[in-house]
Amino acid sequence: MTMDSDMAELSGKSALVTGAGVGIGKAIAEAFARAGARVLVVDLNGETAAATAAGICAAGGEALAHVADVSDEASVADMVTRAVEAFGGLQVACNSAAVSRGAGPIHDFSRETFDQTLELCLTNTFLCMKYEIAHMLENGGGSIVNISSNASLRGQPYNTAYAAAKSGVNLLTKSSASEYGHKGIRINAVSPGVIRTPGVERYFEEQPKIAEGLKQAAAMRRLGEPEEIAEAVCFLASDRASFITGQLLSVDGGAAVK
Ligand SMILES: NC(=O)c1ccc[n+]([C@@H]2O[C@H](COP(=O)([O-])OP(=O)(O)OC[C@H]3O[C@@H](n4cnc5c(N)ncnc54)[C@H](O)[C@@H]3O)[C@@H](O)[C@H]2O)c1
Repeated sequence: MTMDSDMAELSGKSALVTGAGVGIGKAIAEAFARAGARVLVVDLNGETAAATAAGICAAGGEALAHVADVSDEASVADMVTRAVEAFGGLQVACNSAAVSRGAGPIHDFSRETFDQTLELCLTNTFLCMKYEIAHMLENGGGSIVNISSNASLRGQPYNTAYAAAKSGVNLLTKSSASEYGHKGIRINAVSPGVIRTPGVERYFEEQPKIAEGLKQAAAMRRLGEPEEIAEAVCFLASDRASFITGQLLSVDGGAAVK
């Protein structure tokens, strides 16, 4: 990764990315940095957050690692304070961290697993937005991109809790966009298809037939790369998308249109 000043569409901006230790969040943090932003690399896992931040700095970018649990309100408040104190403000945020606690038929699904999935996919996004928006409202606006999922777009047998949580992220995005558009805060979401992250690769090694089926599900007949999600997030976060708010952009090789 090298920094390219021609792509400095986030130059002078301060950003944070949650879940940026690995996978999609990591690629987003790197793309923000390549685009000129100072990036707070947030993750529950301090080692991976530090590795992402070190990679960005080694490539000539500016980044700091920060450990936070985005399902904990005090930790989220502290995360935003850290970005503001370290970088002098916060203009861009991407809420990517999410964890599904399990899949299975509804009649066998425990209340605990359902609640945890909602908390780790939906409530955490609400908490992040709450503190990011509070800062942006008082400091000249900003741009937020939430990471949803194509699982939110149509019925997802045996994946109901995650699908419901991510569809909640979509409406959280649209509702808050209409609430804050006139205050200079744009809020959009990106909906990834199946993306080649370490977790997805591990699952595919165990389930090669499912892997092939999911590749075929995309019109482009392949998995996406984390960097392809990051490109869309970077665009929506930047002033190039200055009249776009409340949108859900699927980045999925055409899986949603098949
Ligand atoms: N990988 C895919 O194919 C895919 C598809 C659709 C949507 N998504 C969404 O994209 C986002 C990123 O997915 P991924 O596959 O890169 O995830 P991942 O599981 O590879 O990484 C998630 C990161 O979030 C961190 N994290 C987990 N809980 C946290 C918490 N409470 N506080 C802070 N950090 C926490 C983890 O430590 C990890 O570094 C998620 O919102 C996911 O739902 C992924």
